[in-house]
Amino acid sequence: MVSLYYTDPVWVSNPPVWRKGRLRSRIIGMDVFQIEGPVRLAGHVEVNGSKNAGLPIMAATLLAPGRSTLVGVPRLADISVCMDLIRQMGCEVQRQDDGLLAIDATKIDNPVGPYDIVRKMRASICILGPLLARCGRVEVSMPGGCAIGDRPINLHLIGLKQLGARIHLKSGYVIAEAPEGLKGASIFLGGPFGSTVLGTANVMMAAVLAKGRTIIESAACEPEVADLANCLNAMGARISGIGSPRLVIDGVTHLHPVQYRVIPDRIEAGTFMAAAAATAGEVHIDHCRPDDMMAVVDRLRRMGITVEPNGDGCTVVGREDIEPTDITTQPYPGFPTDLQAQFMAVLALAHGNSIVIEKIFPDRFMHVAELNRMAANLRKEGSVVIVAGVKKLVAAPVMASDLRASAALVVAGLAAEGTTTINRVYHIDRGYERIEERLNRLGARIRREEGGTV
Ligand code: EPZ
Repeated sequence: MVSLYYTDPVWVSNPPVWRKGRLRSRIIGMDVFQIEGPVRLAGHVEVNGSKNAGLPIMAATLLAPGRSTLVGVPRLADISVCMDLIRQMGCEVQRQDDGLLAIDATKIDNPVGPYDIVRKMRASICILGPLLARCGRVEVSMPGGCAIGDRPINLHLIGLKQLGARIHLKSGYVIAEAPEGLKGASIFLGGPFGSTVLGTANVMMAAVLAKGRTIIESAACEPEVADLANCLNAMGARISGIGSPRLVIDGVTHLHPVQYRVIPDRIEAGTFMAAAAATAGEVHIDHCRPDDMMAVVDRLRRMGITVEPNGDGCTVVGREDIEPTDITTQPYPGFPTDLQAQFMAVLALAHGNSIVIEKIFPDRFMHVAELNRMAANLRKEGSVVIVAGVKKLVAAPVMASDLRASAALVVAGLAAEGTTTINRVYHIDRGYERIEERLNRLGARIRREEGGTV
């Protein structure tokens, strides 16, 4: 049976059609990658601005009436969804000719995150805090689970309640109200898997306009959260302890619009590092901050890969003989879950056994079966994967299931012998801007073709 993924952003009204005896899609964005391998990557690549910093920072601009401009926000499907989300509230959002993203939040007449948008992008939830603080009321569709597992938002809601919000659920929507405004509080945001990135973002964005002092304990320390806090301070907020698990926020009465540059995307940088390592390449990764990636750099070095930080980035020099190692994903500054899949593709080629333990999203292993189709030798035991290194990967048709799992398939495809076909590359387009063109400039041979199998 053909399964239709209605929750994905890519369907258009025209139905699939039969062609050459096979069901072919006529769905915008159902492109496939044909990757010819193996290749050895070499040259320079520039890292874009961070998606996961850009999304909450776009939401933060809603806190200040007037026109903010953001520099370095990448052109990605998820960013376009966020632009639509902000537009339907009554704000003006525009990508200027110079690439800057302008958001005019003078007027917000519909503080709502509708199901049709939230289902396309979970990160839409980060409008909850700023709209509650600015408008005193917000309705956001409850995000469901996704390919990487259950994604609860209980900690977001606990934090907002402690700031004085009244919250109830109705017809699949979270409705939060604070008609009298919010009040500072001491809030503990730790959960069973550590802190919460977007939960910290939400509570922090609500607290900046609350009366009095808020202390967030067990706040997420991810660089994207720190970037958001720096942006909020540039708008007139008073946040200290940025980058630490204890944020102290002294509420202010209003914020002003801002011009702000988002940090480089450390996950994109790490993906290029993995691609260099898997192909024994030599890649200069420009515009990245290795200091934000110490756990990643440490693992690469343990694998025998050279990482040399330089002025605005670093050089990664891979080798044929990759050392096996263990990776445990953890909240920052630990190894990021968003690079687990890509690094598993590299470890699949090591000359021994490695162990990968996922401690943030214990079910985030959709790539395992696909990598095994490419002759990797991976065995999943709960939230652990035992990676028995193989001499080579072999091309196969594979299916992208989520953003980072698809990036892992690209990394594997670059190293594999033969032509790897990756279906549903719209998952990749959510988080990597024209990745095939940028990898091709490094010597990859990736063709994007329209329409894949459904
Ligand atoms: C952010 O998601 C990122 N998304 C994710 O990146 C990233 O994987 C994740 O942080 C972890 O680093 C964006 O920034 C847009 P969490 P977020 O709340 O904030 C549990 C990518 O590929 N939890 O930090 O939604 C949760 O189930 C994406 O770019 C609760 O229990 O993740 C998980 O186990 C995917 N209750 C852990 O905490 C809550 O209320 C961390 O999740 C919230 C989370």
